[in-house]
Amino acid sequence: MKEKISVIPKPVSINYTGGFFKSNTVPQIITKNVNAKNAEEYKLVITQDQITIEAETPAGVYHGQQTFRQLVLSEYKNGELVLPCAEITDYPRFSWRGFMLDCSRYFYSVEFIKNLIDILSLHHINRFHWHLTDDQGWRLPVAEYPLLTEIGSRRVDRRYPESTYVGGFYTENDIKEIVSFASSRHIEVIPEVDLPGHTSAVLASYPGLGCTGGPYRTEDRFGIFEDVLCAGNDKILDLFAAIFDTLAKLFPSQWVHIGGDEVLFNRWQECPKCQKKLAELGLNKIPELQSWITQKLVKMLLERGKTAIGWDEILDASEKFPLPKEAVVMSWRGKAGGIKASNSGHKVIMTPNTEGCYLDHKQFDSKEEPGHLLQGVAAVYKTYSMEPIPSEVKNENTNLILGGQCNLWSEVIYAGKIAEYMIFPRICALAETVWTPKEEKDFEDFSKRLEVHRLRLDALGVNQYRGALK
Ligand code: ACM
Ligand code: ZN
Repeated sequence: MKEKISVIPKPVSINYTGGFFKSNTVPQIITKNVNAKNAEEYKLVITQDQITIEAETPAGVYHGQQTFRQLVLSEYKNGELVLPCAEITDYPRFSWRGFMLDCSRYFYSVEFIKNLIDILSLHHINRFHWHLTDDQGWRLPVAEYPLLTEIGSRRVDRRYPESTYVGGFYTENDIKEIVSFASSRHIEVIPEVDLPGHTSAVLASYPGLGCTGGPYRTEDRFGIFEDVLCAGNDKILDLFAAIFDTLAKLFPSQWVHIGGDEVLFNRWQECPKCQKKLAELGLNKIPELQSWITQKLVKMLLERGKTAIGWDEILDASEKFPLPKEAVVMSWRGKAGGIKASNSGHKVIMTPNTEGCYLDHKQFDSKEEPGHLLQGVAAVYKTYSMEPIPSEVKNENTNLILGGQCNLWSEVIYAGKIAEYMIFPRICALAETVWTPKEEKDFEDFSKRLEVHRLRLDALGVNQYRGALK
C-alpha cells in the first residue's frame, strides 16, 4: 500500500487528508464544474468513498483523468485499487508542452502515431508537431501538386539493393483521423512543411522549382543538401499557396510550422534568377532572400488565419525584411535564437539541441546505444535540466516563452519500437519541466517516481530505455 501519490509530471501541490480509498473495481469519476485560474487546471480529490475531478474546462477534466489513469495503471493490483486520500491541485507552468515526430526520414503508421499521442497525453503533453516533409520524403497530399506524393513520397532505401523503395504518405482521411484522435486527448496537431530548404522531395517531383532544373531525386542519403527551392522563381509562391490552403483545410490548429532551417545558399548565389530577385528587392546579400521568403510565408498564413512558427534561422539576415512580429521562433541551435527572439518581442518555444531536447541523440555513451553523439549524450538528466526561461531573457519578456519541446528526428530510427526507446523516458523528463513549477522540480525525486512510472509504461507496452539516467 503506497502512502504517497507518485505521478509524472509532479503536481503543483498534494495535500494528504488521511485514510485510504479502496475499491475492487476502477471507479467512476465524479466531475464538478468549478471556476479555475488556469484553463488547464484541475483538482483531483480522493476521499475514502469517491474520486472527484473539479475543473472549469474539458482540458482541465482531461488532465485530471490522466493523473488518475496513471494511478490506476500502477496501483490497481490483484483486483484492488488502494490510494491515499488527498487533494491534488494542479495546473501547467507553460502552455506549450510539445513533442515533434519526423515522419519524413521514417514513415510511421497512423496506428503508431495515435498510440504515441495517447501516451503523450498521459503526461499532459499538449502539442504534437508533425514534421511532414523533408528531403527524404513528402507525406502531405496537395491536390494541385499530385507528384509530391506520387514521386516525392518514395525514396531508395540504401540499406538494400538499389531497387528497394520505401515511403508513403498520409491520406486526407489519415490526417483527419489523427487530428481528431489528438483533439479528443487535448493535443493540438501542428503540421510542419519545411521550406525553402530540405526540399529534395519537392524538386524531384517538380524540377522546375529548383535553381538548376535538376536532375533531382528524393534523397536516399541523410544530410543537408545544396538544392533548395529557387528564390528567383515566383512559381514557388503558387506552391506555398496550395500547401497552405491544404493545411488550412485539414488542420484546425492556429499554428503552422514553416521550417526554415539549414538552408544552404550556394545555388542561389550561382543562379541568375536568384541574383535578379536580389537586385529587384534591393538586397545586398544572398541569405537575405530567405527573409523575403519567410515574410511571404508568414503573411500568406496570416491571410489564412494562421500563425507561423519557424526554426530559429528565420531570424537570420532579416534586417531588410524583418521577421513579422506574429511569427513564433522555435529555438533549436541552443537557446541563443530564443533569447534573441523573445528580447525582440517574438513568442518562443525552447527545444535546444544542446540540452537534451533532441531525442535522436544517444541517452548513454555506448556503441550499443541507438542514436548519435553530435551534440554529446542527451541523458535523461540533461533533458530534465533544460530550463525554458534562460536568465538572458528580460523579465518583461519571460511571458513570451510559450514552453518547451522534444524532437525525434528519424534518420537513425528504423521502427516504431526504436522510436519509443528514444522517446521514453526522456519525454517524461520534459513533461515535468514544462508542467511542474520550477521550484518543485527535483531530479532525485523524479528518478524515484520514474521507477513507479516505468510500470505504467510497461503496462501500456511501451519500449523504454532503462539504462543510466545521468
Ligand atoms: C533542425 O534540427 N534542423 C531543426
Ligand atoms: Zn534560383
